[in-house]
Amino acid sequence: MSETSPRLRAELEGIPTYKPGKPAAAEGQQAYKLSSNENPYPPLPGVLETAMETVRSFNRYPDMACTGLMSELADRFGVPVSHVATGTGSVGVAQQLIQATSGPGDEVIYAWRSFEAYPIITQISGATSVRVPLTSGEVHDLDAMAAAITDRTRLIFVCNPNNPTGTAVRKAELERFLDAVPSDILVVLDEAYREFVRDPEVPDGIELYRDRPNVCVLRTFSKAYGLAGLRVGFAIAHEPVAAALRKTAVPFGVSQLAQDAAVASLRAEDELLGRVGVLVGERTRVLEGLRTQGWTVPDTQANFVWLRTGDRTVDFAGVCEQAGVTVRPFPGEGVRVTIGEVEANDIFLKVAEAFRKEL
Ligand SMILES: Cc1ncc(COP(=O)(O)O)c(C=O)c1O
Repeated sequence: MSETSPRLRAELEGIPTYKPGKPAAAEGQQAYKLSSNENPYPPLPGVLETAMETVRSFNRYPDMACTGLMSELADRFGVPVSHVATGTGSVGVAQQLIQATSGPGDEVIYAWRSFEAYPIITQISGATSVRVPLTSGEVHDLDAMAAAITDRTRLIFVCNPNNPTGTAVRKAELERFLDAVPSDILVVLDEAYREFVRDPEVPDGIELYRDRPNVCVLRTFSKAYGLAGLRVGFAIAHEPVAAALRKTAVPFGVSQLAQDAAVASLRAEDELLGRVGVLVGERTRVLEGLRTQGWTVPDTQANFVWLRTGDRTVDFAGVCEQAGVTVRPFPGEGVRVTIGEVEANDIFLKVAEAFRKEL
């Protein structure tokens, strides 16, 4: 038998691995997971019933074209069905967008720090990441991003609101940026947290995409709609881009369970968005609590807050975990803390207060 292992693509060397949020863990006490920006509410009874019904036929392949979900999305957003594409979570769709646009020698621009999947999916494709630091206020520096465009640029991510800072760019500055980007470069507005936005100046990407063929909007059922475990997200884009997404999709990637639960969720949207409203209320409470304690916290339009804990980050995450809440540390930088159940938010506020006094 030969000792040689199969030849793998050099691009895979040194790819950072995606770090999932740590599960809740605390001995002898109730533990909460505030590390993955999930929705703390359990599935709605009606959505669960639909899913249980679909489970009965998992001996069958799903509808590969996601017909029912696609037409429901097209109706919901007032766009042609041919402008909708679904995928295995919006991260799956983001990867398809890179596959469709970028390869070795090409450049993908994104802000940093931002969603940690961007560097991974860019490197897998063989393209080069161009990271543009956030401003001192932790917001996308759109002027610097525009200045980073070269003739190799193929795709630009604008994560709005941004993960992990929660900050959002506003309409006027985003429009100015889009006007400055050459029309043959795809701009992906990643709006995974759109439903949590309350600042009226933060634009709805779907309005911006309508007369801009190089803009693609990414949305997900994982956050506001509470279907993170089912893996379904979607893009809205003009036809050539949406068609490219159909070409790069893994056949049968979106399960029937995910498709049916997503349709049921869209039909139960009022109730789900009511829950989002409660979480937004909790977000305000947590943000104000932290500021009263003396923390500098950027305004957040998402379901999480960002604390710059610097070289105390790992310590801080450790004390949170001991107290019963698992948060997401970015060592040396800060922690991202999801807005969760009221009790979880209370524990986090208590830990933050005690820690603040130590600093
Ligand atoms: C900005 C952003 N985009 C996309 C995703 C991916 O979500 P999903 O693949 O579950 O749709 C996340 C998840 O954390 C995110 O924060």
